[in-house]
Amino acid sequence: MTSVTFNPEHFIARMPKAELHLHIEGTLEPELMFEIARRNGVALRFKSVEALREAYNFHNLQSFLDIYYEGAQALIHEQDFYDLTRAYLDRVAKQNVRHVEIFFDPQTHTDRGVKFETAIKGIHRALYDAEYLYGVTSHLILCFLRHLSADAAMKTLDDALPFKQWIKAVGLDSSEMGNPPEKFKAVFDRARHEGLLTVAHAGEEGPPEYIRQALDLLKVRRIDHGVRCLEDPALVEKLRQERVPLTVCPLSNIKLRVFDRMENHNLKTLLSQGLCVTVNSDDPAYFGGYLNENYQAVSQSLYLGPVELVQLAKNSFEASWIPQADKQRYYHELDQLQAAATAGAAY
Ligand code: HPA
Ligand code: ZN
Repeated sequence: MTSVTFNPEHFIARMPKAELHLHIEGTLEPELMFEIARRNGVALRFKSVEALREAYNFHNLQSFLDIYYEGAQALIHEQDFYDLTRAYLDRVAKQNVRHVEIFFDPQTHTDRGVKFETAIKGIHRALYDAEYLYGVTSHLILCFLRHLSADAAMKTLDDALPFKQWIKAVGLDSSEMGNPPEKFKAVFDRARHEGLLTVAHAGEEGPPEYIRQALDLLKVRRIDHGVRCLEDPALVEKLRQERVPLTVCPLSNIKLRVFDRMENHNLKTLLSQGLCVTVNSDDPAYFGGYLNENYQAVSQSLYLGPVELVQLAKNSFEASWIPQADKQRYYHELDQLQAAATAGAAY
């Protein structure tokens, strides 16, 4: 029997995967941003696609957020939100992504005078079309901007309730330091009371205490990022025992200097501690890679083989909110790929 060397790139491309930490506004590629800005008559501060890309040199979360909110100003009409979401889904369907649970930031738009319904209708229509065209299933997560007030978040939830059937969960993003989860307890209580699930960004730049607050006060189903949990061994034990998923975003963490280089990323340590770690792309237009590129980056720098890659992909389905029978189908498909790879099949 001929033994063929394992090719991570081909293997990753062939794995079915779910993406659970993706800001739709963070998928706005410079070319599309310029096209939409031109047709809307919106003036951008940057003169060209190249000049804009050159500005993507971040030193922390805030330096990224400043440019990310600026880029979103091109989006005005329902069709803009459709085109944005469709472009993301067209791309990831080709990456063998089978299910997505994506964030949108309504306040980034409503604060500029764009109606809540304009954004959600465009996003929803693209999600619907992608399921029909590609079989990619999806859920939508409304994120509150944590640098704004709790009252503003409550008003956003008021705007959202007429569209509750299109929204699966609420989340919390934007500037983490100084904006602890406890600030949003009341709005998350109300969202859960309305039947929505909850998630929150915590432990990206913020301390393990913010992860604890997200769990205890906001009753989250997953922690977005969560990489700083390792500083608190008792918290790691709780996350492990309760199998709380972490939606880790490797390329984002390097671009925003959460880790200095991929070789020093703690993803492999988190996995070895028995945590339900998943790989995600966060804001791929800004951080240099979609889902497969994130898997490739960790696979290469942290020496992940087929068993660990399959574990990560299985975790992505386990941590998702798809029906149990669908999860089993994906686990089976992944088991077969792993068996073929470890038997020395070509990829
Ligand atoms: N962290 C917080 N807020 C965000 C992010 C992130 O990684 N991406 C978009 N908004
Ligand atoms: Zn994020």
